[in-house]
Amino acid sequence: MEKEPKPFVKWAGGKRQLINTLFNNIPSSFSNYHEPFVGGGALYFKLWSEGMIKKAYLNDYNPDLIGAYKVIKRNPLDLIDELKSKKYTNDSEAYYQMRKTEPEDRIERAARFMYMNRTAFNGLYRVNSKGKFNVPFGRYTNPKICNEENILLVSEALRKATLTLGDFSVVSKKARKGDFVYFDPPYHPLSKTSFTSYTDADFSEKDQRRLSELFSTLDDKNVNVMLSNSCSPLIMDLYSNYEPRKVMARRSINCKANKRGAVAEIIAFNY
Ligand SMILES: C[S@@+](CC[C@H](N)C(=O)[O-])C[C@H]1O[C@@H](n2cnc3c(N)ncnc32)[C@H](O)[C@@H]1O
Repeated sequence: MEKEPKPFVKWAGGKRQLINTLFNNIPSSFSNYHEPFVGGGALYFKLWSEGMIKKAYLNDYNPDLIGAYKVIKRNPLDLIDELKSKKYTNDSEAYYQMRKTEPEDRIERAARFMYMNRTAFNGLYRVNSKGKFNVPFGRYTNPKICNEENILLVSEALRKATLTLGDFSVVSKKARKGDFVYFDPPYHPLSKTSFTSYTDADFSEKDQRRLSELFSTLDDKNVNVMLSNSCSPLIMDLYSNYEPRKVMARRSINCKANKRGAVAEIIAFNY
């Protein structure tokens, strides 16, 4: 069997645990695919591997993430060369040195991002109030800093994808009748202390409401829409018209080790 591309970043909220459940619930056929909160893109790579992608629109709010997607799409060999250089070794001195840098060159920026994602504690993406990456060194044995084969597979898988940086609302202009939109937003916290921050701007209750309005608007336009989220009372209420289903997922990125268990999440769809 041919090798399949997989997410090139470890990402909070990554969907690899839930991938079969999501895949079993996609619409039976669709035209273009849209993922406005792409993150690691687990469902996209699965759909691509199954030959189901005609054209895709992938978007996220995180500039380093989208920058890395674009470099992998257009310059995979330059990126591989860069990642093989000595600057990207797994030791704390190299790590803290790299953390201080702010490369302007897009290839170096993408390499730094991928390196930090593999070597930082928990692979967390967290910036301080000045927008600086502030995660400590992770002390992993042998992290795969340059997965050459996967970078090439991902590059190929992105051929049919348009990548954009910005707010999820961009999908309202692009999605047409018969398309498929998968929303995987930052989850609404079950409690005030849950981890939900991916970028310097948090995703608030207002954003969750804005998203559920967009879900209904797309539904009215006969776009196929699927959403995953936490099963908090707010989310159950916002999507009550669509009979959200509970599904179990194992969570690996959580700041509290004892909270890394199976948690109930929901998926909702309109078809
Ligand atoms: C739950 S993660 C997506 C996980 C992804 N499905 C995966 O498999 O890895 C949510 C993503 O939403 C992005 N995000 C946060 N606020 C956003 C906004 N207003 N518009 C678009 N993306 C946003 C974050 O940067 C993060 O990558």
